Amino acid sequence: MENLRIDGDRLWASLMELARIGATEKGGVCRLALTDLDRQGRDLFVRWCKEAGCSIEVDKMGNIFARRAGRNPSLPPILAGSHLDSQPTGGKFDGPYGVLAGLEIIRTLNDLGIETDAPVEVVAWTNEEGARFAPSMTGSGVFAGVFDLDYGLSRTALDGATLGGELERIGYSGPTAMGNRPIGAYFEAHIEQGPILEAEGKTIGVVFGAQAQRWFEVTVIGQEAHAGPTPMHVRRDALLGAARGIQEVNRIGLAYQPNACATVGLIQSSPNSRNTIPGHVFFTVDFRHPDDEKLSAMNAELRASLERIAEESKLEIAIEEIWYSPPVRFDPACVQAVRDAADRLGYSHRDIVSGAGHDACYMSRVAPSGMVFVPCEGGISHNEVENASKPDIAAGAQVLFHAVLAFAGEAKAR
Ligand code: GLV
Ligand code: MN
Ligand code: MN
Repeated sequence: MENLRIDGDRLWASLMELARIGATEKGGVCRLALTDLDRQGRDLFVRWCKEAGCSIEVDKMGNIFARRAGRNPSLPPILAGSHLDSQPTGGKFDGPYGVLAGLEIIRTLNDLGIETDAPVEVVAWTNEEGARFAPSMTGSGVFAGVFDLDYGLSRTALDGATLGGELERIGYSGPTAMGNRPIGAYFEAHIEQGPILEAEGKTIGVVFGAQAQRWFEVTVIGQEAHAGPTPMHVRRDALLGAARGIQEVNRIGLAYQPNACATVGLIQSSPNSRNTIPGHVFFTVDFRHPDDEKLSAMNAELRASLERIAEESKLEIAIEEIWYSPPVRFDPACVQAVRDAADRLGYSHRDIVSGAGHDACYMSRVAPSGMVFVPCEGGISHNEVENASKPDIAAGAQVLFHAVLAFAGEAKAR
């Protein structure tokens, strides 16, 4: 089995070709969910899958499933995938790696003339990033029954576009009903997006879980007033209140070390005029911790801090939790399959918890699931300079291949 090898050069070439769609000047990718660029990326992926002999299904959330039949059609499929959408300043690997590593498995099975018992499917999930439509992992979330379809389709971007409307517009609102079908196992390859593997010189991260997340939206209301005649002590400056709130978010993140993460990534101030005191500010909070109780305590501290700021600054501050993703433990047999594959193939590895959210988190609710991480340069991701080495990218896909084979049933020559 050790001699069954994916083609690392072909995988790399496909990643680089896909990265041309939405390429940015600094070498990254901006391919926000359900934009015209996302459609182009999807079209290319579908074309490649068809060329590899797959049948294609698109469900009502626009999730794309490319299927290679197995010997036994009554067996549930083994899935490998990830997402094709990116952050506004995204990289070439976050998402496309897991999708194209899945495609590379199918291309390799074809080359080697191998027939698996169970069907093998590659999946590209809709709106994993949560950058254009909050929250993250919407397509896999609806597939797994965490969100209902109406909730998924009604997610609304800041520009007012809805997820369902944009799916229709780009032609990826498919006919297939959501979920409700058995999945034998789900595997996802991804760059680590953090510094641990690189720092320890390990090639493979055997991902056994993911940390919990809570997303909030905060609205601060003060009073617009003239920047000149309004004395400092009578002002009700919503942006100043937001700034104090942001300081608190950072303080809370630092207070819950090790492991807590706390981020304000989006802010809108109104009227955004240089000589008017801001009367209305909207900002988001992303809190993460592997320990659910600590995450709850962070939530409570944030609410208390915002109440105090509102009172001291004579502001109205409203906080709404819009998303909670509990901590995840991946299926022990899937985790072991990844570890065994790394061992068998002779790659150094360590067990690791994912700091990022992934579609595998939601898939783990409806199917045995596991993930393979590979190092990325400097641990940098959600950045146009995101990078990973060709040998590591090939190694992760190789491990993915062997883990999928272990679940898809004994390989037989066609
Ligand atoms: C997904 O990219 C996340 O924010 O974890
Ligand atoms: Mn990702
Ligand atoms: Mn991401």
